[in-house]
Formats: sequence, C-alpha cells, structure tokens
Amino acid sequence: MAMEPSILTSRWKIPDAHRIDVAMKHGAWATLPAALKMAPGEITQVVKDSGLRGRGGAGFPTGVKWGFVPPPEKRNGKPVYLVCNADESEPGTFKDRYLMWKDPHMFLEGIVISAYAIGAKAAYIYLRGEFGFVRRRVDEAIAEARAKGFIGRNILGSGVDVEVYTHLGAGAYICGEETALLSSLEGKKGQPKLKPPFPAVEGAWRAPTIVNNVETMAAVTWIVGHGAAAYREFGTEKSPGTKLLSVSGHVLKPGVYEIDMGIPMMDFIMDTAGGLRPGRKLKAVVPGGSSVPIMTPDEVARATIDYESIHEVSGSYLGSGGMIVMDDTTDLAEGLANLLRFYAHESCGQCTPCREGTGWMFRILKRVKEGRATDVDLATLKNLADNIHSKTICFFGASAAMPVQSWLKKFPDEFFGRVHRTGKVGYADVGAEPPGGDKPGGTTQAAK
Ligand SMILES: Cc1cc2nc3c(=O)[nH]c(=O)nc-3n(C[C@H](O)[C@H](O)[C@H](O)COP(=O)(O)O)c2cc1C
Repeated sequence: MAMEPSILTSRWKIPDAHRIDVAMKHGAWATLPAALKMAPGEITQVVKDSGLRGRGGAGFPTGVKWGFVPPPEKRNGKPVYLVCNADESEPGTFKDRYLMWKDPHMFLEGIVISAYAIGAKAAYIYLRGEFGFVRRRVDEAIAEARAKGFIGRNILGSGVDVEVYTHLGAGAYICGEETALLSSLEGKKGQPKLKPPFPAVEGAWRAPTIVNNVETMAAVTWIVGHGAAAYREFGTEKSPGTKLLSVSGHVLKPGVYEIDMGIPMMDFIMDTAGGLRPGRKLKAVVPGGSSVPIMTPDEVARATIDYESIHEVSGSYLGSGGMIVMDDTTDLAEGLANLLRFYAHESCGQCTPCREGTGWMFRILKRVKEGRATDVDLATLKNLADNIHSKTICFFGASAAMPVQSWLKKFPDEFFGRVHRTGKVGYADVGAEPPGGDKPGGTTQAAK
C-alpha cells in the first residue's frame, strides 16, 4: 500500500498543467478517444466494476447510480443531464477547489466520458459563489478543450455531442445538497426537495439527472483509462481506489493529499501531514468535513482511512475527506459554538426543526462558551440535536446535529467544565459515558 499514490494528483506538480497543451503532454484527453469507441453501457460497467464510490460525502457507488437513469423509452422524451457538484462548501473541505485549479482537464475529461456513458448531451458544473476565480480557470479549460474538439458537437468525429457549462451559485452551503443545487441551477431558491424521486429519475427540469462530485469525475477518467482492476489495486475491498484528503488545523503540513484508502489514520496525521506542533498532544479529529462526528485520539489510533473502518471504530464517516486536526490547545466549546454559528446561518429555513433548532443550539453554545449556561442547557442542547437529526427534508439537519451529539458524548468534560452545575443533569443526559456511575438527573460524580 503506497502512502501517497498519484492518480488524481499526477499533474499537480507540473507547472502550468492547467493549460491543455501542457496537460496533454502528460496524458490529458488521451482516454476520451478510446472511451468514445466503447458502448455507453460498457463504460458504466467499468465504473461499476471499479467499485468507485461518490466522493462528495455519501460514498454511494457511482456506476450503480448511473444505472438508475431510466432507458430512453421511459423518459417521456426528456433529455438526460449530468451535473458536476463543485459547490464544496463543507467547512474543512477544499480538495475539489485544488483539483479544478491545478488540473481542470482531469475532471473535464471525466465529465465528457460520464456524459457519454449516461446519454447526456449537456453537462453543468455548479460552483459555489465564492469560486469565481476557479470558474474562470475552468471556463478557459473548457474553451481550450472545445477548440481541440473534445467538447461540443460531434466530438472527435464520433457523432457524440456533449456541451459543458459552468454555473456559479450565490454562496450557500445548502446548494451543495443535490436537490437544492438543482433548484438553484433552474434559477429557483436553493432549497432541498424530498427524495424520492431521486435526481437520477427526476432531476434538473424534471429530467433524469446524474449529480456527481468533482473528484468522482476525475476518478472516472483514470478508471476508464486504466481499467477497473488497476483501480482496485488501490484501497480496500469495499473502499477501492485513492481519496483526496484536505487537512487543516493543528498539523505542521496542512494541505491536500491523495492517499491509498486503508492506511492507518494516525500514521497519516503524524507522518504525511507533518504531525503536531512540538510538545502538543492530539485532542480530537473530525475526519470528513465539519458535519461528521468527532473522533477521540484512541479512535484515531484504531482507524484506517476508508469508509468502513472510520464508521466501525468511531461511528463517524469519511465524508468528503475534509480532516480537521485539533491539538490540546483547542477549546472545544468555542469550536462547537463556531460551527453552530455556521449551520444556523446556512439553514435554508424550510423545516422547522432545522430553522429554529440550529439557531437555538448556537445560542446555547454561545452561552456555554461565555460561561453563562447551566448543565440543564447541555441537556437541552442534546435534546434539540436528537430532535433535528432525521426529522428534516434533507441531511442538513443531521449535519448540524451530529457535531453537537458527538462532541458532547465524547468530550463531556469540555462542556460540563464550562457551565454552572445545578446537580439536575449528569453525563448520561448528554449521551456521554457516566464517569464513575453517573446517573441522569441525580447527584452524580459529574455534578460534584
Ligand atoms: C448539506 C449538504 C451539503 C452537501 N454539499 C456537497 C458539496 O459541497 N459537494 C458535493 O459533491 N456533495 C455535497 N453533498 C452531497 C450531494 O448531495 C450529493 O450526494 C453528491 O454531490 C453526489 O455526488 P457523488 O455521488 O459523486 O458523491 C452535500 C449534501 C448535503 C446534505
């Protein structure tokens, strides 16, 4: 297992690799001609066989999703669309921005191949509002690729048409959620819709639409060019391939890394990411973007970086691969308050539990941070999070609830140490392991 393979990042260190002439000298657009000679179903099969799982967060198998697009006779004459999710608004996640900036031709080639595979003649790249500078670079790359005949009508004389458009959002985190993204793309408010119907059946303009992340599209290029078996030489049985991780926080070498899935998490943090500052101890890690549950140092020491291990060891998720490392100088009460300020601000407001609950959680955490809360507030906080998770149209509610639930559960001292103790609330009331026989609602060790 290689610590730092170079599948998606192979051209990142080459100067000017965003220019098509430079990129083509190093393999860009070399897969497309062969792909166009394959039947669309063959490409889908290769992607299925590779075991590629969507890199936007949920890890859903990409080839399987493509298979949900109804056949032409069941589409009521509607077209199929491909939408590349380049919203990347999850705090701690910044790998797609790098991928698009350093080597836009890698994911553009994947977009054209994927569009051909699913029968889409139009592909949209939806970028978050703050990515204007990235959009300009991607637009330049699209123009270069069009001039070479890789994008547009009758690509390389194959009779296949694929047009690629960029679309800039207005800077809303919720527009990363696929149904909100599609509403925004249609020019409506960026608010999620209930699923089903899933976008693959009824998406943009009510037509079948495949939504895939930027990194997923880049991986498709490599997989179709090298084959499913070659891809499976990386990673684990259930999490094949490589993954981009964006690492921030208290490591000496923050940045974006490509890793072979299945490597030990602690080795990655301590070696590849440069380790902690001298004299510091690891306090906690958020492994997959701000919304996934937090991990303790003990869990980090037992986990490998793949979808299965992280969940089995800690109940957390690999998510988007946005890893936030915190050392022992971190004030978790302040950190959680900061996170909830973000979620309260970004809630789209459709669902009452999320609209009201995120702001309420933030206000409590602000009081905790400022030393103006009691232990009863902590129990309320847990109760609120429990009543938001899974009770909203989309997963945003859960995304705001999971940090609250997991930070309280795994680091109760950080919060109990910051509030006035009434004796009415114990560790178990916030979902935490009772230290020394703590009981809910009793005079407990925690309350002493
Ligand atoms: C609140 C929320 C925000 C999301 N933000 C993003 C995002 O910024 N980028 C992304 O690719 N997926 C994001 N997703 C996941 C998308 O809904 C969708 O699953 C993904 O784009 C599918 O692509 P994939 O299968 O290639 O991962 C988000 C989901 C939720 C619930």
